[in-house]
Amino acid sequence: MARPSTPRPVASPDLLTAADLMAVLPMTAEVKDGHLWIGGVDTVELAREAGTALYVMDEATIRFQLSEYVKWTRYHWKDVDVVYAGKAFLTLAMVKIVEEEDCCLLCASGGELAYAVRAGFPMDRVQMHGNNKTPAELAEALDAGIGRIVVDNFEEMERLSALASERGVTQRVLIRVTPGVAADTHDFIITGAEDSKFGFGLNQGLAMQAVKRAIELPGIEFEGLHMHIGSQIFALHSFAKAIEVMVGFMREIQVETGHSVRMLDVGGGLGVAYGVPDEPSTVKDFGKVVVDGIKEECERHGLTVPRMAVEPGRSIVANAGVTLYTVGSIKEIPGIRTYVAIDGGMSDNIRTSLYGAHYEALVADRADQPREMIATIAGKHCESGDIVVKDAPLQHLEVGDIVCVCATGGYCHSMSSNYNKQVRPGVVFVRDGAWRWSLRRETYDDLMRSDLG
Ligand code: LLP
Repeated sequence: MARPSTPRPVASPDLLTAADLMAVLPMTAEVKDGHLWIGGVDTVELAREAGTALYVMDEATIRFQLSEYVKWTRYHWKDVDVVYAGKAFLTLAMVKIVEEEDCCLLCASGGELAYAVRAGFPMDRVQMHGNNKTPAELAEALDAGIGRIVVDNFEEMERLSALASERGVTQRVLIRVTPGVAADTHDFIITGAEDSKFGFGLNQGLAMQAVKRAIELPGIEFEGLHMHIGSQIFALHSFAKAIEVMVGFMREIQVETGHSVRMLDVGGGLGVAYGVPDEPSTVKDFGKVVVDGIKEECERHGLTVPRMAVEPGRSIVANAGVTLYTVGSIKEIPGIRTYVAIDGGMSDNIRTSLYGAHYEALVADRADQPREMIATIAGKHCESGDIVVKDAPLQHLEVGDIVCVCATGGYCHSMSSNYNKQVRPGVVFVRDGAWRWSLRRETYDDLMRSDLG
């Protein structure tokens, strides 16, 4: 057995340059004059002008990904809604892009809904889900004239029915079903298994009870079913399996209640490449598995094919984004590890400490050089676990260099915090050689805005 003091084996340098990392970078990434450029903008210049830490989002990649979903789902079936899951990354500029790309928006809270309202997003294209929407959030959604609400539990259904009846409106609803399929991903982001806080289980008959109740309650109109089996899923067979289960349930509903299910929403969850060897399924293949799966299963059961929806979040934004940091100090512990400390950390990227997520990193001002060393990119927070990338192959670097952590466009800004009263980084969008602020960097005044002293 190894003695506790034996240094752990460390990863070895992989000699890759930025040019080898294109699979995890935005589609417009290129290396020019030794620097990493994104959206026609030199990221090193950008870091100097806008400051670090900084989230950089490539508009072209976001628009391309949204349009891929539209293309490869509607290619197979005309009535498919592509509903972007705002929880992955949401700013007013992002809402506008979603609208312009002819997509819908999924909100998981009153706050996300407020973004849609403020941006003037067409409300009939908004859906709200969540396992404990408060009465206030339900009322806000109704008052905004939201398109659909995904009902998660019986209490919520009764509340929604009462609130809608009071207002004299009828709200379209989907019933969230847990199909009992465990997706092949991290335990914390599995949602469709039987043991889940989300939705109505099929096996205990709860989902059927929920559908029947939705049909009889005033103020709500049962339109269809919703599922979401998890996130960062690579293999598509779990989607196919869950679709089989859901369409089987559509058939049961038809037989038992005489109602046909007019909408089937299969949720999001398609994985992305965080590491160079990652090979997630493509949007094209996802579209085919989902749409053909639903069509074939409906045919098998003699059902009319419903309107469909998909709810991608991560696969729209993750690879569109990077985070730029400045190296503040370098600490080499001989034979053990080299720590590179950056001006951010777990407050702008909690995913490494929360899920053990893996990221690729490179030195933006030495992007053409090979990654010849191994270092751990550590944040500036008061926790040993505040690591952004553990044992990362990196170019040789010095204090003042700009480190770029790749594929941080999804679930980094949206899960960021003010731990240690750290101000959140700003978000810039780059496009066609120009950049603009989408969110300015926070200030100390922002930190104290709601503090009443
Ligand atoms: N629809 C529903 C109902 C969801 O709950 C989610 C994500 C999505 C769609 C979008 O899934 P995506 O395409 O992004 O996988 N914080 C975790 C991810 C949590 C996902 C929660 N639900 C992470 O950083 O990995």
